[in-house]
Amino acid sequence: MTEMKGLILSGGKGTRMRPITHTAAKQLLPVANKPILFYGIEALISAGIKEIGIIISPETGEDVKKTVGDGSRWGIKISYILQAEPKGLAHAVKTGRDFLGDSPFVMYLGDNLIKDGVAPLVERFADGKADAFILLKEVANPSAFGVAQLNGNGRILCLEEKPKEPKSNLALVGVYLFNKHIHTAIDEIQPSKRGELEITDAIQRLIDTKHPVESHILNSWWLDTGKKDDMLEANRVVLDEMTEVSNNGNVDPSTRISGRVLVGKNTVLKDCTVRGPAVIGNDCILENSYVGPFTSIGDGARVSQAEIEHSILRENCKITDFNGRIVDSLIGVNVELTRSQAKPVAYRLMLGDDSKVEVV
Ligand code: G1P
Repeated sequence: MTEMKGLILSGGKGTRMRPITHTAAKQLLPVANKPILFYGIEALISAGIKEIGIIISPETGEDVKKTVGDGSRWGIKISYILQAEPKGLAHAVKTGRDFLGDSPFVMYLGDNLIKDGVAPLVERFADGKADAFILLKEVANPSAFGVAQLNGNGRILCLEEKPKEPKSNLALVGVYLFNKHIHTAIDEIQPSKRGELEITDAIQRLIDTKHPVESHILNSWWLDTGKKDDMLEANRVVLDEMTEVSNNGNVDPSTRISGRVLVGKNTVLKDCTVRGPAVIGNDCILENSYVGPFTSIGDGARVSQAEIEHSILRENCKITDFNGRIVDSLIGVNVELTRSQAKPVAYRLMLGDDSKVEVV
């Protein structure tokens, strides 16, 4: 079998995560202080893949390239493929045709996270006779996904993209394994009602033309980080599984740290209480503050008189003299938050489009 390649999709506009995604690709948002996209790249590398193509969009492509680089930091080769318009996942595969050649490949949606990685799946695919291998997961809201119907023996009967009346609760996870036959199937499908070439329809086409398609139902977690609450959930799950504890900063004796906490280089903690699991980046200064479980604080943060819990703060935020509590929040790069009195009577806010503010 020729060497397996990786195709990671990192386009899209991230409309469900505005205003954060007005300025950043959703795949670059951090989970436990690491861009989501890196989890996908590392999952493919752990499966032995050495050549990855990343599909980018005109809006965020440059940012993705700058953040990820050419792969040399991981000792692999990463190239970029521009998809000029978001015309669907199957269209993205078409766009990547030159890069893929006739190689088998793992297609990985850059905003998806799965617990067990892809190595066991790649092995199974390499050994088996299937032309496609899909992952499924039971979900409470199947209408939001591609949905598979299986027969009693676990064989796939049919696949439907975001059906109004789903035939099962098995959603298609954003990790797929294909060989060259998918390209023919893609050439034979038409755009869906939403005007996109759906990968779900291309896999259905493989089934209709008698190509073997296998599936595996995931028992471990899978997260599709399209919305704020999904991001916080991803952050919670990844921090929850973190086993390391490390302190590379300057923590004064009046600070109490408990549980699993990572403190980055040149970070100063003074009169703070930190309860893990939590990650605090490099070059931060935190004073008189409380950092609670499931919190990630990006590099360069300044925090004083504040309580932060179950939240993601991106790089270089300033939350100073806040005298209040921040929970369940996703805060973008360079955000400044201040509150001059303990009991505020007025708020002075500068917020981006579609911001949501909850004063509780
Ligand atoms: C896409 C696929 C869908 C799949 C989902 C997984 O949906 O079309 O079949 O279940 O990814 O994340 P989209 O994210 O484009 O809405």
